Amino acid sequence: MADTAAKATPAGGFPGRVLDQVRPDSPRTAELLTSLIRHLHEFVDETRPTPDEWRYGLDFLARASQFCTADRHEFILLSDLLGHSSHVDELSNDGPGTPSTVEGPFHTPAPRRELGAIIATGAEWERGGWTVLRGTVTGSDGEPVPGATIDVWQSDDRGRYDVQDEAQPPGNLRALLTAGADGGYWLRTVRPSSYPVPVDGPGGELLRAMNRHPMRPAHIHAEIRADGYRPLTTHLFVAGDQYLASDAAFGVRDGLILPFARCDDPAAVTRFRMPGPFYDVIFDFRLAPARR
Ligand code: BEZ
Ligand code: FE
Repeated sequence: MADTAAKATPAGGFPGRVLDQVRPDSPRTAELLTSLIRHLHEFVDETRPTPDEWRYGLDFLARASQFCTADRHEFILLSDLLGHSSHVDELSNDGPGTPSTVEGPFHTPAPRRELGAIIATGAEWERGGWTVLRGTVTGSDGEPVPGATIDVWQSDDRGRYDVQDEAQPPGNLRALLTAGADGGYWLRTVRPSSYPVPVDGPGGELLRAMNRHPMRPAHIHAEIRADGYRPLTTHLFVAGDQYLASDAAFGVRDGLILPFARCDDPAAVTRFRMPGPFYDVIFDFRLAPARR
């Protein structure tokens, strides 16, 4: 069995996950594979692919694997664009608390930063769009969760992540924060922009085949972890964005669309050590209790 795990993650290859419950001798493996094979045969019976179409499908998957790197997971993108990530997420996270949503392909390990840090360490800070994001991490009964870990990542004001843009310093617009003793957190950043998902690979090929646009509404990603609570993967969306109703990744949820309220109160500018008027965004992350 150890061999199976080793073969699934070839040395020097893509760092994939191997789950204990998905092993040759497990009932869960039998259930997953039996259903998958049944549905694939039903698909063939229903659509009767020609040999050329069948080969195109397999070559498409082979091309997708060639686009996977440590910074880019093309199969996550395909799953996002087909609505599968969102579907799995909705079935897995229906408990109390902040709605979860898809992780997307751009999560990478973030630098640890202090509460209040400016996470926009590239040229975007000079361009403006200054934003304060602040709030509290609580449990589902509203109790503060001191010491919760808040992992944040976002695109810049031009819709680019650091891993897509050589002009951005590595770790730009990413942060790993620890909530304070009262569960409070805050950071300084710039307002993200809507952006197209990567269309230079099979994800783009799929969108073009479906005649769909590639845009995601502007958002900030967050993953929250704390002992005794269920990990939360979510987004905060910018209210008013033109793509909220047609997100290419089907990630928008009620309760995650936030006003980026303009604040030009000089006292607040001073209090948050901002260079000038800013967008004030307040959000409390509410964590569900851990599953037993
Ligand atoms: C993202 O938000 O980073 C993302 C999510 C789904 C597909 C592509 C990008
Ligand atoms: Fe994103």
